[in-house]
Amino acid sequence: MNATRLDLDGRRSLVTGAGSGIGRALSLELASRRGELFLVGRREGPLAETAALVAERGGTAHVITADIAAEGEPERVVAEAAARLGGLDILINNAGNVRAGALEEIAPSDILAMIRLNLTAPILATRAALPHLREAGAQHGNAAILAIASGSALVGMPFYSVYGATKAGIAKFDEALRRELIGSGVHVATSYPGATDTPMMTSQQAGADLGFGRRPVEEVAAEIMAALENRQSDINTQLPERRGLQELNERDPLAVDAALTPKLEELRAAVSGHRSI
Ligand SMILES: NC(=O)c1ccc[n+]([C@@H]2O[C@H](COP(=O)([O-])OP(=O)(O)OC[C@H]3O[C@@H](n4cnc5c(N)ncnc54)[C@H](OP(=O)(O)O)[C@@H]3O)[C@@H](O)[C@H]2O)c1
Repeated sequence: MNATRLDLDGRRSLVTGAGSGIGRALSLELASRRGELFLVGRREGPLAETAALVAERGGTAHVITADIAAEGEPERVVAEAAARLGGLDILINNAGNVRAGALEEIAPSDILAMIRLNLTAPILATRAALPHLREAGAQHGNAAILAIASGSALVGMPFYSVYGATKAGIAKFDEALRRELIGSGVHVATSYPGATDTPMMTSQQAGADLGFGRRPVEEVAAEIMAALENRQSDINTQLPERRGLQELNERDPLAVDAALTPKLEELRAAVSGHRSI
């Protein structure tokens, strides 16, 4: 089963954070494969816009508003998705938030908001979705769970300590779960975008010189979907300079410390206002 392509044609998918950015772009990729989508977010307006774009691309979309960081909501959303779609083939854990800055300057409430949305919510949504995904996997072998982690999961960037912790956490969760699901027909993949041009990045001022060169969101989403179809497990869409830093970090983490030292204050100034909570 693993050697074959993951067939995404006409699949029933739940996408969290589908009203904007990467979630919207991934939804449109699925729509162009005739997908039937269940779109989740807190605001109805952006979700309705995504739903209209999905229809234009040849997919169908159902919309539900929910704060998936709230207690009981991941389970409710998954149950409604499975009921409306008559099952579930694909779960995309995309919704996420960020608050950057020196750790002492991040409010405890923002720390908890990041952990709840980026880590707790996708784990609970995945747990709730598994019976449906297993059923689909047993039927056709093309079920999948995809998380949108971050390049911050691969290199601990200063001023992104909590964000990086949540993203590294979900990446390791995926890796373990993929092995737990061997033979089930449910593939598990993690994507690691570098800076991507989305609403999340509007409050961030760091550019390519600081390792935050941005990629267009449609390009990133297309690359993620193509890699998922190839059954890749770790999908890295970072630009070459950040991959270089990642490779150096694997070989010699203290060399990364040294490389970042002269840029530290500039980086702090550029990212301290970065907040999407
Ligand atoms: N952009 C980047 O540079 C980048 C890089 C690496 C990884 N990522 C990751 O990619 C994912 C998508 O981010 P993005 O850049 O596309 O950001 P975005 O445009 O801010 O999208 C986040 C989406 O999540 C929804 N959302 C936020 N809180 C929610 C909640 N509590 N419950 C349900 N939905 C919620 C938002 O809609 P509502 O406000 O209506 O709820 C929004 O549509 C995130 O996990 C992010 O960490 C982004």
